[in-house]
Amino acid sequence: MLGNFTYHNPTKLIFGDKAMDALTEELKAYGPVVQLVYGGGSIKKNGIYEQVIAALEAAGKTVVEDAGVMPNPTVEKLNEGIAIARENDVDLIFAVGGGSCIDYAKGVAVSVNLPADRDPWQTYWVDFEEPTCPIVPVGAVLTMVGTGSEMNGGSVITNHETKMKVGHVFANPEVFPRFAVLNPTFTYTLPKYQMVAGIFDIMNHITEQYFSGEDDNTSDYLAEGLMRNLIVASRAAVKNPEDYEARSNIMWCATWALNTLVAMGKSTDWEVHMLGQAIGAHTDATHGMTLSAVALPYYRFIMPYGLSKFARFATAVWGVDPAGKTEEELVAEGLDAMEAWMREIGCVMSAGELGMTEDMVEDVADSTLIMQGGYHVLTRDEVVQVLRENL
Ligand code: NZQ
Ligand code: ZN
Repeated sequence: MLGNFTYHNPTKLIFGDKAMDALTEELKAYGPVVQLVYGGGSIKKNGIYEQVIAALEAAGKTVVEDAGVMPNPTVEKLNEGIAIARENDVDLIFAVGGGSCIDYAKGVAVSVNLPADRDPWQTYWVDFEEPTCPIVPVGAVLTMVGTGSEMNGGSVITNHETKMKVGHVFANPEVFPRFAVLNPTFTYTLPKYQMVAGIFDIMNHITEQYFSGEDDNTSDYLAEGLMRNLIVASRAAVKNPEDYEARSNIMWCATWALNTLVAMGKSTDWEVHMLGQAIGAHTDATHGMTLSAVALPYYRFIMPYGLSKFARFATAVWGVDPAGKTEEELVAEGLDAMEAWMREIGCVMSAGELGMTEDMVEDVADSTLIMQGGYHVLTRDEVVQVLRENL
C-alpha cells in the first residue's frame, strides 16, 4: 500500500430486511426537530413513507417536510432546503431516497450555518471550501442503490444556469450520514431503468478507482471481488428484481464501492464521472446512464496507457483466458466482455439516447473537468473525440 492515508468512516450502517426496526432508537439520539427530505413521491406509493413517519412519531419527533428533491438536485432546490432548515432550527436532516436526496441533505447540512452573506454554491461547489461552520447531522433511509452517498461525504449539485454539475467530496467526517438504514426490499419497486443505472454507477465507481497506479495494492483485490459479485448479482436481479440475495448484494457492493475503502493507496482521476456529469449538466439525464454512455469509448481510448492493468481486469474480473493471447488481445476481450454485460442488463450505450446532439459536443467539453491521477490526462481535443465516439 503506497502513500500515507487516514481511513475514518463514521457512518453506522443498519442493514437487512428488518433494518427499519432499529430506526426509532436511532432517531432518539438526535434533537427534537427533523427535516424529512424526500423526492418526487415514490416513497408515498411503496409504503416507505408510512414506515418512516411511524418511526419518527415513536421517537417523539417534530417533522418538517421537505419534499420534491429532484434527481440531480439543483442549486435552487438546495437554497429552498437551507431556508427550511434555518426557519425551523432543525436538529437532523433525514433523507429518505437515493443519492439525490442524501447528497441534497448533506448540501443543506453544511450550508445552514454559513453566514448569510456567503453563497453555498460558490463556497462549496465552485471554491471547494471545507465547512468551518457547525454541520447539522444527516441520517438516511436508502431506497435507490448506486451512488454510495449513504456512507460517504459526496454531494453532487447541478447548476443549470452555469451548466455545471459538480460533486464536492467533503473530507470532514461530520458530513457523512451519521447512520443509514439499508433495507434491500425497499429497492424492489425501482423501475428497471433506475436499477440498471445504479448497477452501472457501482461498476464505474469501482473502475474509476481501479484504473490507476502500477503497484500491488490491496484496494485492487477488493475492487475485483466487488466487481465479480456485482456482475453475478446484477444478472440475477435483472432476471428477477425481487431476488433478495441479488438485491442485497448489489446494495452492499454499492456502499463499499464508494465509501473510500477501495480508494486507499490509489490516485484516481474520476474522468468517466467528469464526462458523465458534463453530459448530465446539459441533458439532466440519469447519472448512471451518462456514465454507461461514455465509459467504453473512454476506456478504449486510454487503455494503451494502462495496458497491463486492463489485461488484469480482463482475466481477474471477466474471466478471459489469457492463453495464447497478446496483452492487446486480452484487453480487447475484457472490454468486449464488459460491453456484452452492459448490453445484457440494459445500459444506455450512447449519449445520443440521452438527448445529446452533435451541436452540444463543444459545450459539453467545456463543462468537462479534466483530472490527473489516472493512466492518461485527456486533452480538450481528446475529450471531444471521446464524446463524439458514442453519440
Ligand atoms: O424522487 P422519487 O419519487 O423518490 O423517485 C426516484 C428518482 O426518480 C426514484 N426512486 C428512488 N427510490 C425508489 C424510486 N422509485 C421507486 N422505488 C424506489 N425505491 O429513482 C429516481 C432516481 O433517484 P436518485 O436519487 O436521483 O438516484 P441516484 O441514487 O442514482 O442519485 C443520483 C444523484 O447522485 C449523484 C448523481 O450525480 C445524481 O445527482 N451522485 C452522488 C455521489 C456521491 N454522493 O458520492 C456519487 C455518484 O457518482 C453520483 O454522482
Ligand atoms: Zn457515480
